[in-house]
Amino acid sequence: MRLPAVVLALLVITVTPAHAEPRVVGGVVVEDVDEAPWMVALTTSSGYQFCGGALVGPDLVATAAHCVYSRTPSSITVVGGRLDLRTDGGSSSVVTQYQIADGYSTPSRGKDIALLTLARPMPYRVLPVAATTGVYDARKVGVVYGWGRQEESNTDKSPLLHKASIPVMADEQCSAAYARYDAGAMFCAGYPEGGVDSCIDDSGGPFVVDGRLAGIVSWGIGCARPNTPGVYTRVTTYLS
Ligand code: ARG
Repeated sequence: MRLPAVVLALLVITVTPAHAEPRVVGGVVVEDVDEAPWMVALTTSSGYQFCGGALVGPDLVATAAHCVYSRTPSSITVVGGRLDLRTDGGSSSVVTQYQIADGYSTPSRGKDIALLTLARPMPYRVLPVAATTGVYDARKVGVVYGWGRQEESNTDKSPLLHKASIPVMADEQCSAAYARYDAGAMFCAGYPEGGVDSCIDDSGGPFVVDGRLAGIVSWGIGCARPNTPGVYTRVTTYLS
């Protein structure tokens, strides 16, 4: 059965408003895969998304150590080129091996970064890694991407990739929020009043400043609370 163009147009119009709703905490849906071609989802073999990541090479994914350390490589499927996880667009690959930063134990102690090697390289543009610490200057604005929660205590997740723009916070403000803050291993991003943040299951996803991978979603207390920023792995400390 073929639907007339008018009906298709109406369907598109009815579906569009959902995309305009706020996503993550305080973000918006990514509408075009070319905006974030390097974005990948980490899923179980049955397709359950549990973390994000970014292609830094055709067969290399940067993510958080805490996303993978309790899993075997072959139990992790990486999905690229797919904004809507209900579809089977893009491509997927299992992980053949991964490397975790030396001495990693738990996110709040830093070193929360891992590099995954894919069985099959992906045909998407890779995300260059930040080369200078200027990306961490307070009030630089980064964009964080993920399929995680849109509210701290709402476990419903959107199958659509979302993003939010969030300013880097000064080290002093971050130390005031978190006694465990280690400025050599991490940085914080958020607004003093809260409202916009990464959240559960966004972990491992990229924080992009000036078109480069500057941070990886790592930890925080709750999501989007006032004076409680998100904490990100300070990528330049670990990758070059
Ligand atoms: N640890 C979380 C995860 O595994 C990410 C938490 C980020 N929290 C935040 N408030 N930014 O998905």
